[in-house]
Amino acid sequence: MAVQEQAQSIEGPYSGYYRRDIPAEDAELTHVGSGTPCGELMRQYWHPVALSSDVTDLPLAVRILGEDLVVFRDRSNRVGVLHRHCSHRGTSLEYGVPSERGIRCCYHGWLFDVDGRILETPGEPPDSKLKDSFVHGAYPAEERHGLVFAYMGPPDEKPDFPVFDTYFTPKDNRLVPYSIWQPCNWLQIRENGMDPIHAVFLHSRMNEVQFTQPWAEMPVYEFFETGDGMHYLTIRRAGEFLWIRAAQYTLPNIGQTGGLFEEVDASKYFGRVSLTRWVVPVDDTHSWIFGLRHFNEVVDPLRKGREDLCGHDSVDFVGQDGNRPYEERQRNPGDWDAQVSQRPIAIHDLEHKGSTDVGVAMLRRVLRRVIRGEKQPVISTGDASGQKVVYTYSHDTVLRVPSRDDLNDEEVQREVGRRVMDAVKSGDAVPHADAREAHIVGRLKEIEANPYPG
Ligand code: FES
Ligand SMILES: [Fe+2]
Repeated sequence: MAVQEQAQSIEGPYSGYYRRDIPAEDAELTHVGSGTPCGELMRQYWHPVALSSDVTDLPLAVRILGEDLVVFRDRSNRVGVLHRHCSHRGTSLEYGVPSERGIRCCYHGWLFDVDGRILETPGEPPDSKLKDSFVHGAYPAEERHGLVFAYMGPPDEKPDFPVFDTYFTPKDNRLVPYSIWQPCNWLQIRENGMDPIHAVFLHSRMNEVQFTQPWAEMPVYEFFETGDGMHYLTIRRAGEFLWIRAAQYTLPNIGQTGGLFEEVDASKYFGRVSLTRWVVPVDDTHSWIFGLRHFNEVVDPLRKGREDLCGHDSVDFVGQDGNRPYEERQRNPGDWDAQVSQRPIAIHDLEHKGSTDVGVAMLRRVLRRVIRGEKQPVISTGDASGQKVVYTYSHDTVLRVPSRDDLNDEEVQREVGRRVMDAVKSGDAVPHADAREAHIVGRLKEIEANPYPG
């Protein structure tokens, strides 16, 4: 067939034949194994690898970044993350026995400490030097807020453990850990967080209203790069109120999202997040979301959230896991169904991105620049008071700003949004987290008192 004829046909109707071959995935951003560009970037950060509640008196076999590992708790309550296969002859330590100190392999009783040192090789003669001649593969582990974190990078480059401001706001905030299994690449899960427009369709207009009615309104939106990632700003009108929302992506795989059940019927100033989430690659085509659900009166005044539904492969809002019956997922699909069905690894070369995909494109750009070493991410580790709290921007603010006949409402929304974001960012210079919050709330009230341009 002439080349010209084929070129015309692929643009015409019934072009499936010409489109049947699937190009390769974007390996630079999606592959995470040892030695891959993205995999090595990932290894520079701490990641959750298990729920604490899944690490019982039995060891837990996990796979993270393409590496087979075992997570265990010894009888002194120390958590260890070790290479899964015993250094002796390879038996999986998931069959091992947690001991007073470390874990003992079931096959010949070798005892490994949490740092990989070999404490005993009981079948060997007493004068054997074998146990002192090498160590077993181990990673530093920390247990926080019901999650076990590991650092899988070069030991001498281990960063400080990041603690986000959102954990402590408001003061009585409760953090509940959970996990979600997703059989697909990590990146398409993370990209969802920088695609606020999917909430208008997937969560509101295409299905039942999965959260609240204000989500169905098409927002005014903008995206911004930050030193350590990016964030978006959406502004929606609901009657006489404007709902200004920022959500943040923190390199390499962290997202923080504001309230789920916003009714937008009363003023709110710098309400913080309902979710802190890490998308942790298991390998190139499987992922765990490990998350902290935040429960407090500010983020969920109507108490629609359910702490009792958060745990292993389960969270308390619709469409987040693959455990619903298939027909129900088809009739009312959620984030899980949309993301997993983008293929095991979404194929970027087959996409036709539009204006609403600016955030996804920015996320890929930011990530690619860091992977290539063209941009050094600023890894925030603390404020000037030495509290070691990372300031972040995700929030919901609701201001009473009635529309006016003499003003273009979209321009009003954009301008108010920009001023709100300026107010939030002006808090970066305030050295204590509580003082920063008070400063931001004060600035937001000033905007509400005088919201119109000119
Ligand atoms: S294989 Fe583990 S002690 Fe022998
Ligand atoms: Fe969503």
